[in-house]
Amino acid sequence: PRVAIVFGGRSSEHGVSVVTAASVLRSIDRTRYEVLPVGITHEGRWALVSDEPDRMTITDGRMPDVDQVADSVEGQLALPASPASREVVWSEPGAAPKALGEVDVVLPLLHGPWGEDGTIQGLLELSGVPYVGSGVLASAVGMDKEYTKRVLESFGLGVGPYTVVRPRDWESSAGREQARERIAALGLPVFVKPCRAGSSIGITKVKDAAQLDAAIEEARRHDPKVIVEAMLEGREIECGVLEFEDGPRASLPAEVLVGEGFEFYDFEAKYIDSSEVRIPADLTGAETAEIRRQAVAAFEALSCEGLARVDFFQLTDGRWVVNEINTMPGFTPISAYPKMWEATGVPYAELIDRLLQAALR
Ligand code: DAL
Ligand code: MG
Repeated sequence: PRVAIVFGGRSSEHGVSVVTAASVLRSIDRTRYEVLPVGITHEGRWALVSDEPDRMTITDGRMPDVDQVADSVEGQLALPASPASREVVWSEPGAAPKALGEVDVVLPLLHGPWGEDGTIQGLLELSGVPYVGSGVLASAVGMDKEYTKRVLESFGLGVGPYTVVRPRDWESSAGREQARERIAALGLPVFVKPCRAGSSIGITKVKDAAQLDAAIEEARRHDPKVIVEAMLEGREIECGVLEFEDGPRASLPAEVLVGEGFEFYDFEAKYIDSSEVRIPADLTGAETAEIRRQAVAAFEALSCEGLARVDFFQLTDGRWVVNEINTMPGFTPISAYPKMWEATGVPYAELIDRLLQAALR
């Protein structure tokens, strides 16, 4: 089958997506799949790019981007009939569906808004092209930290205390006052986050109320809707979910051990410093069974498809709280999702194959 691997994109997680794509391009079984790498620039232009994973790695602590793997040849995105005639061609997103219609399946390796949030999923639905992963609704809900919590709560899953600061709240002085009161009720520290973003970008841990406004402004640079979450005392445990022929199954869980000197699992700690992820997490058999059950329950609550990584906190009293769901988790060489599956008996190449096969079914 022909597979379009779509990566990069307009979100602040562009670079993470490029590294994820490099990792997939290295491992995908070329004897079974013909691969067409499609990069989306920061500005949203689409390009059929060359397939060079070596140019798609983190160097000097800097994330790569699509321009780095594409030459700046102007033109139309029209997938060439044979890979031999492949060259870099550019296009606007509106022209993409027809070209993507020439492939059997799309692997949208995009993280964050305009990719992991249901938008490309909608484009692909309209184009009638099968794709890997969740559909429009699950992607959109999973991207939005407020609606993720609302849905999970309504299905009886635990979530932590939070409040949302909407644009209208922040733009009037009365609204600001009310928002500050709601935030004060959460205690300190709090995490101030863009409601729809990923990889900890735009997130501030606020320990002093005097830093609150600046933190909200910072989050608003990424999303006009901001979520403020109470700090949870406990361990950070993640679990992968993958759809098998008979339904979704959860991987062995991982524990995030944030590197020395980091206040929380922020962007640097995630990708540059590479904090340790312990797999399997040091949990009892009963705890492991419970988190796996809840990971699948969260996956089903949002109607996810294909794959997701569910991130939990195990509170000091033993209760589980879902922090978030990532419908297109990172697949970089240091990412927890593929490592958890490897530890559960699904090696990287098989994982990619299972995802593509599920989309083609
Ligand atoms: N948002 C990043 C890519 C992750 O969840 O792995
Ligand atoms: Mg995330």
